[in-house]
Amino acid sequence: MKIFVTRKVPGKALEKLTSSDNEVIISEFDRPLKEEELVEKAKDADALLTLLTDRVDGELMDTAGPQLKIISNYAVGFDNVDVKAATDRGIVVTNTPSDEVNEAVAEHTWALILGLARRIVEADESTRKGGFRGWEPDTFLGTCLLGKTLGIVGLGRIGSMVARRAAGYKMKILYNKRTRDDKLEKELGVNFADIDSLLSESDFVTLHVPLTDETRHMINEETMKKMKKGSYLINTSRGPVVKEHDLVEALKSGHLMGTALDVFDNEPDIDPELIGMENVILTPHIASATWEAREKMGEQAINAILDVFGGKKPENLVNEEVWNKRRK
Ligand code: GLV
Ligand code: GLV
Repeated sequence: MKIFVTRKVPGKALEKLTSSDNEVIISEFDRPLKEEELVEKAKDADALLTLLTDRVDGELMDTAGPQLKIISNYAVGFDNVDVKAATDRGIVVTNTPSDEVNEAVAEHTWALILGLARRIVEADESTRKGGFRGWEPDTFLGTCLLGKTLGIVGLGRIGSMVARRAAGYKMKILYNKRTRDDKLEKELGVNFADIDSLLSESDFVTLHVPLTDETRHMINEETMKKMKKGSYLINTSRGPVVKEHDLVEALKSGHLMGTALDVFDNEPDIDPELIGMENVILTPHIASATWEAREKMGEQAINAILDVFGGKKPENLVNEEVWNKRRK
């Protein structure tokens, strides 16, 4: 079978694939492939190992050919894959959620919350520039987390892990989710709030929803107006959940105190005004970038391909309904 890997990934997992009895082609470029390159390389592949920077649509699936059986997406999110188009064609789609990845994202979220609250990046920059003149009573005053309210939008696996960690900081936690979850509420000590109440009562709002038609630009001028004055927004989910331009305006007006973003509306572009702001932390889509997470993602992405080739249902099947009518 022919497997095309759209970009080399770290860790040992690829070795398992290359030592298998398959023809494995790994993109020679250390960058996302251009659309035409992807189309060209995907031809005749039985499996594609794709990254979240690859746009995988029905046309790509068709030019790859009728032998294409699986799209193994090396990411938790799969908004880059047209899952319906895959299902219609009998192609299996898998992703790579694991404790390692989810914990990595939750930990990064906390790094951003703490970084914002205690102005770590600004203070570091000032210190490096020679700004430290000895202890002073009023430099870089931040905000204390104790007793503050954390609003978690999306209480899935990652959102829950973020909530678990909030207990240590003795924060009050509100969450919003499509369906209320009594069991999780008890386990995590969190309270359900409709989205408007969550936005208006939280000192820190953190986003953990997938990107869908429903969540695209859900944080915009109108919804940000509902946020508490002086609150903070953290986004480690998908950039287009937040309308970046509106966020810039909310920061400029002082309505929001600060923001920390790991993902952007139009990656890899970032609104230049954000870059010039001090009350902003920007990281380059690295929330899941730990060695542990990457190793696990590689293993899962590869096992999914080998499982499907072997007729075994993969662990992280995105389109469950395709299984009984999948291409063989
Ligand atoms: C990263 O953003 C992922 O979805 O794994
Ligand atoms: C700060 O360094 C203090 O001693 O209060």
